[in-house]
Amino acid sequence: MRIASSSIVLGLTAYALASSVPAVKPQSKADLKKILNLLNSTNIFRQLIEPCSTFNAAWIRTVFHDCGGGSVLDNTGGLDGSLQFELSRTENAGLAPTIGFFQSLVEPGVTLSDIIALGGVASVAFCGGPLIDYHPGRVDATVANPTGRVPSATSNLQFLRSLSARLGLYPSEQVALFQGVHTFGGAHAANSPEVTNQTFQSFDGTPTVYEISYRRKALTKITSNPSLNIFKVIKEGKSILGTDHVSFGDPILKGYIDTYAHDKDLFSKNFVAAFTKCINLNQNQHLDSVILVPPTGTAAPHFKTADDKVYDVSRRGYEAPGTQPEHDTPCDPSSTQSSRCSLEHGYVETCSEKTRTWTKYKDTVLEALPAGWECHDSHKGHYLVPPAAPAKAYAKYRRSESEEEVYGEPAAKKKRSVDEF
Ligand code: HEM
Repeated sequence: MRIASSSIVLGLTAYALASSVPAVKPQSKADLKKILNLLNSTNIFRQLIEPCSTFNAAWIRTVFHDCGGGSVLDNTGGLDGSLQFELSRTENAGLAPTIGFFQSLVEPGVTLSDIIALGGVASVAFCGGPLIDYHPGRVDATVANPTGRVPSATSNLQFLRSLSARLGLYPSEQVALFQGVHTFGGAHAANSPEVTNQTFQSFDGTPTVYEISYRRKALTKITSNPSLNIFKVIKEGKSILGTDHVSFGDPILKGYIDTYAHDKDLFSKNFVAAFTKCINLNQNQHLDSVILVPPTGTAAPHFKTADDKVYDVSRRGYEAPGTQPEHDTPCDPSSTQSSRCSLEHGYVETCSEKTRTWTKYKDTVLEALPAGWECHDSHKGHYLVPPAAPAKAYAKYRRSESEEEVYGEPAAKKKRSVDEF
């Protein structure tokens, strides 16, 4: 089912383009350029998260809800795009719009899992967080992870310990990730009625800001308010997440909460280590040796090599969107179609695990996209299709795609650019 936001002809053309993408193994250089393009300043992917907005928090949360179902103990799951099959689960409420948007960006050589990981890394960077090495090459799962692996706000300490073990985290990394990451956002009544009854309630005083690296000038004015520091919020017993309270009750985890409240460098170091484990979980064997560096300051996004390995993308997986299901397909939480477009423009529907009915909600991603984007159904869930002929914008972009602009590296450093593979 296609829900047109413009003309039917435009929509049909867009669908034809989207569904006829061949599942071929692409050239390595072309692949890397496609991924790099997502961070080009003309790309809607980057525009949604720079400047830092509520999208960044949603995309960072998406990373965890995908990798959190994985385990290094039995080598199952990981950051593998399996979230697309798990959107009907209660803990994943609110993530369907993000996954629908990311699915629209999947193409040969660019997997959903690579897009989820890049969305997380770039979102952290654009909110003032640390730069995290991003290697492309993840392979997408074709089935859901087992249920019961992602925590809820009321998970107990034992659950958190086993989650941490599955992700391969040390206690220092566990606190940096499970507690520290919440500096980026907050809770929504629509997603987490057990946590808040407010439309949005921030976890600390500065949602969308990684205040650890908040500009020092600005900080001098606001450091007197402890609620700006996520760890101080927890220390004061003011967190809205039960998991923060139980973590603070554990002597080892408490030690790290106390330390991070004043040691920002140590927090950042362990946050990067933990986030890296999450985005690479069970995917290390697939990852390319090149690192995509998100834009910093005036520098453009670019690749650099981590070692001298020969670049090889033949192992990448790609699956074209499935054929369209009928719009009146019954809601079946065990099917792969956990979301669908709504008949009302600007909305999508998810299949509720509890009530086994399609539930409509406003799609914030659809709302934020420029006119011309379409919502389409597939057996994997809804996905968003860009305008069929963005001729002007695209032509402008192609003309400006000189090496300098794409890789943004000074000439002297060019010999390490991806063109040399
Ligand atoms: C003990 C583990 C965790 C628990 C219990 C937990 C729980 C929650 C809950 C209940 C929300 C509110 C969601 C909403 O209402 O929209 C939330 C938000 C969020 N979570 Fe977690 N989370 C955990 C770990 C993580 C991890 C590991 C990450 C990322 C790597 C993460 C990233 C986020 C972000 C960025 C938000 C804010 C979302 C927004 O503002 O839209 N969480 N978390």
